[in-house]
Amino acid sequence: MSQPTNSATVQQVEAEQLYEIQVDGRRAGVVAYRDHGDQRVFYHTEVDDAYAGQGLASRLVREALTESRGQGKRIVPVCPYVAAFLKKNTEFAEATDPVTPEISRWLDTVLA
Ligand SMILES: CC(C)(COP(=O)(O)OP(=O)(O)OC[C@H]1O[C@@H](n2cnc3c(N)ncnc32)[C@H](O)[C@@H]1OP(=O)(O)O)[C@@H](O)C(=O)NCCC(=O)NCCS
Repeated sequence: MSQPTNSATVQQVEAEQLYEIQVDGRRAGVVAYRDHGDQRVFYHTEVDDAYAGQGLASRLVREALTESRGQGKRIVPVCPYVAAFLKKNTEFAEATDPVTPEISRWLDTVLA
């Protein structure tokens, strides 16, 4: 497959509370969230093994964070991949809230 990152598209799937990245019309990865008031808590990122290491997660997370910020949401990076992405991409710092024990407990409850 040639240059999947360039041909990939990202969209929000509100019914599933996630953003997906598609390659050739197929879902290749997701970043999942739950909304907590004006906070969007990102808790899991996953890319199919077939597409690993090609920058798809980075592209997906960048677009998900940009769109969420545009929707007025604060970003809460529970997912370690999103947290690592935010350390490297400091332009989202002003839209980011820390992961607190209260958020962690709330997330456990809504995902149970
Ligand atoms: C983590 C995952 C989403 C990365 O997908 P990918 O499309 O291969 O990632 P990209 O090519 O965009 O980025 C690779 C970068 O992610 C980093 N990375 C890989 N796994 C990571 C993790 N668990 N946490 C933080 N960073 C990670 C790599 O070190 C690499 O960094 P670099 O660009 O500075 O070298 C994918 O490997 C996956 O689905 N893993 C299983 C689920 C998982 O562990 N999810 C993360 C925690 S929720």
